[in-house]
Amino acid sequence: MTDQHDTDASTQGQEAGGDLFNTAAGWVLFAAGLGLGFSILSGKYFHGDDPQRPEQLGYVIEGVEEAGGDKPAEMTVAEALTLVSVEDGAKVFAKCSACHSIEAGGANGVGPNLHAIMGANVGAKPGFSYSSGMANHGGQWGWDEMDAWLKRPATYIEGTKMSFAGLSKIEDRAAVALYMNSEGSGLSLPEFTPVEEVASEEASADTAAVEEAETSQDDAEATSQATAEAEA
Ligand code: HEC
Repeated sequence: MTDQHDTDASTQGQEAGGDLFNTAAGWVLFAAGLGLGFSILSGKYFHGDDPQRPEQLGYVIEGVEEAGGDKPAEMTVAEALTLVSVEDGAKVFAKCSACHSIEAGGANGVGPNLHAIMGANVGAKPGFSYSSGMANHGGQWGWDEMDAWLKRPATYIEGTKMSFAGLSKIEDRAAVALYMNSEGSGLSLPEFTPVEEVASEEASADTAAVEEAETSQDDAEATSQATAEAEA
């Protein structure tokens, strides 16, 4: 009887232990399942390990200066003209002379004669058969126009016959324009104020303002002192 009881109790104990184990195992499985579920879900929503995610986020737009970047903006034509000489331009013109003559009365070649071209009407040299794009363009060859044209002829005048890729350096474009200007044109140079000069002018204006403010403060102090003395 007692024996049986004991056995019963032990079997019961074993059974209880088994239940406990099963329950615990159940919770562990449940937790593991939850964890897996969460990681799948979060993976779906956040794409942390997406192989399609680019190394670098966002994209760089060429030609756009980053705000506050250290890179100085490209200089202006007016500034470039202060850095070059007619002789520099004569050297650059070697690239043009295969198609263009520049002396007065020079023959048209593959391209028109370029004597006195600066300031002249676009596409108007007599005896040269221009592309319709250039013939109908209108306007004159000023410093900025010549710079834009020589940078990328095909973009400046669509359908141009001038098969020349362009001069990528602004100094080269300025130099060759300066050289052409010395060959029968004589346009005056665009005005250029160096940035340093502008900055120092602003700085001295600031100093003047500060001095003025200090003076008026001094005045105010003097007045209040005088009032105090008068009251005493
Ligand atoms: C491969 C030949 C070739 C080369 C090299 C070339 N040009 Fe030309 N250029 C032409 C032709 C052709 C035209 C006429 C374009 C048209 O009608 O569309 C032209 C037109 C021009 C014009 C306009 C003339 C006008 O009457 O309005 C200028 C300015 C000019 N070229 C400057 C230059 C300069 C400066 C260089 C050198 C940096 C150069 N070209 C190099 C062939 C050339």
